Amino acid sequence: GKSFPVCKLNGKLFPAFGLGRLQTIPDVSIRRDDVLLGGYPKTGCHWVHEILHMLVNGKSELTKYGKGLGGMIDAIPDIILDSLSSPRVLNSHMLYDDLPKGVKEHRTKIVITVRNPKDTVVSFYNHVRNLEEFYTYTGEFNDYFDLWIEGNVDYGSYFDFYLSWDELLKNPERHPVLLVKYEDIKAQPMENIKRIAQFLEVDVTDEFVAEIVEKTSFNSMKSKRAKDMSAKLFRKGKVGDWRNWLSEEQSEAIDKQWQKKMQGCIYQPHYNE
Ligand code: A3P
Repeated sequence: GKSFPVCKLNGKLFPAFGLGRLQTIPDVSIRRDDVLLGGYPKTGCHWVHEILHMLVNGKSELTKYGKGLGGMIDAIPDIILDSLSSPRVLNSHMLYDDLPKGVKEHRTKIVITVRNPKDTVVSFYNHVRNLEEFYTYTGEFNDYFDLWIEGNVDYGSYFDFYLSWDELLKNPERHPVLLVKYEDIKAQPMENIKRIAQFLEVDVTDEFVAEIVEKTSFNSMKSKRAKDMSAKLFRKGKVGDWRNWLSEEQSEAIDKQWQKKMQGCIYQPHYNE
């Protein structure tokens, strides 16, 4: 119970979505007005997915039960992706070069979520332990932490993931990519939703943005999903919960990994909130 019985493709680990889907991701058909949400798992994807969905559709309504991530390319079959009405918000945790080919062709707008790595590992551990449908992992947090920091979990290393996106963020002429920080939306939701709207070239009023803030609050989303399988994904929704989980050594191990790999990156985490 301490390893990951996940899918392996080209030497990389993925959740047990099935190799069939994973192998055909490059061929997923992309529409001109699609928006793509990326980001390492547990960095606020469900939250930002709802925000994007509201912005592109001009309605402050949460998506229907179970359809929260109806556009999850990595797991959802083409027949469902193709049935979604436009404008779609697609979602994936793949690296840029592993996304559908159409994303590059259409210069699809990409929003990447990021969250400080310490809260991310805590959230990921709880995800893995709570979603028995997908994972059989039964290890303790300390065991999981060792796997996570080395990237021996599904979707690999957090550090390598953001290191890879950093190249695009530094070369905006290559592709339109917006980085959205979990802690920033938490602290200043209005400002950050407006920033996203600007990136999407969507006009918004203050009233509309305020409605989005309310509808996508943790409590609002959690209660909407209460009867759904995805209820387990709404755990705490806080910044800084890592202090209840990480030892001093674990916290330092993440700092060291950061120093080693990510010093020159545009994104630097907010640790001390
Ligand atoms: P915690 O496990 O720390 O509570 P993802 O959607 O990428 O899987 O990320 C899940 C994390 O985002 C979970 O963190 C979850 O509680 C949190 N989350 C989900 N909806 C949220 C919201 N509306 N506001 C703040 N955090 C939210």
